[in-house]
Amino acid sequence: MTIIRDEILSRQANLDKIAGQYLSLKTFHGVLAKIIAIINNPASSAKHLAEVIQSDPALASRVLTIVNSPLYALSQQVTNLSHAIALLGFNEMRHIAMGVSFFDAFSIGERIHLVRLWKHSIYCAKLAELLATQSRYLVDEAFTVGLLHDIGMILLLSYSNRVFVTTLYNYKFQKGQVTFPESEEKMLGLNHTHIGAYASMKWNFPGIITETILCHHNLRLSDKFAQPTQYLTRVLFLADQLCKIMGVASVEHVERHTVEDLLAAEEIYSQAGLDREKLELALARIDPVMQEAEKFFSLLGR
Ligand SMILES: [Fe+2]
Ligand SMILES: [Fe+2]
Repeated sequence: MTIIRDEILSRQANLDKIAGQYLSLKTFHGVLAKIIAIINNPASSAKHLAEVIQSDPALASRVLTIVNSPLYALSQQVTNLSHAIALLGFNEMRHIAMGVSFFDAFSIGERIHLVRLWKHSIYCAKLAELLATQSRYLVDEAFTVGLLHDIGMILLLSYSNRVFVTTLYNYKFQKGQVTFPESEEKMLGLNHTHIGAYASMKWNFPGIITETILCHHNLRLSDKFAQPTQYLTRVLFLADQLCKIMGVASVEHVERHTVEDLLAAEEIYSQAGLDREKLELALARIDPVMQEAEKFFSLLGR
């Protein structure tokens, strides 16, 4: 917690300016925080999940629409959430509910960038889940943090299209001399990892989610946290790199990213619980996972 505070305190004024108005999005963080909290609570049940979703009628109706969509090809019409959970499983339902509340909270900002960020978030969630599945460790957390990791960028875009677009322009103009977070730092004195971690902390998301959001462009920083955060940060980092390789990055990037680069990053993937064989196994599963992500995105993206 001290590290988080140290990282945030010096940037507090800017953070409040950018994220302040969104920190009070009560329905969003209330429901989403409860859905996320369900992962950390072994006592939580399907009934509990159904109750949380039902507490927000708009969310409940959107979730049921998705459950009844051709994506799941159910043989019967599902009209209540407990039934939906019984058919699709607890985790799948939790993912749908998180996706819906995440998309619905931020339907502001310049459409083209927002849609790209939404799409990236879904793909990154599915790819992080795929990687974590290889070691069967923190799989659900990997999905969650994949979905939420660039929320700072979405908050920045929602705060000011102009600032976001200028930052992007400066990044692209320098043709690989700076990374996108460095371009943000120059423009704002902070980057989207600070904005995202600040919001995550204010919304009472679990510590590991906040820490991983903060570290996702700075692996060294994650070494100051406990082992689960170090692991999750690397899983997310690899999923983010895979998104770049597969053409679903958060912003149009200028650096070149290849599968060979990923396979050469042994230090990173070994700390993500993978050896070369497991990484190759995950890579072999990429196509169906990308298709699932695309279908899920098309349902949520509206
Ligand atoms: Fe990022
Ligand atoms: Fe990302």
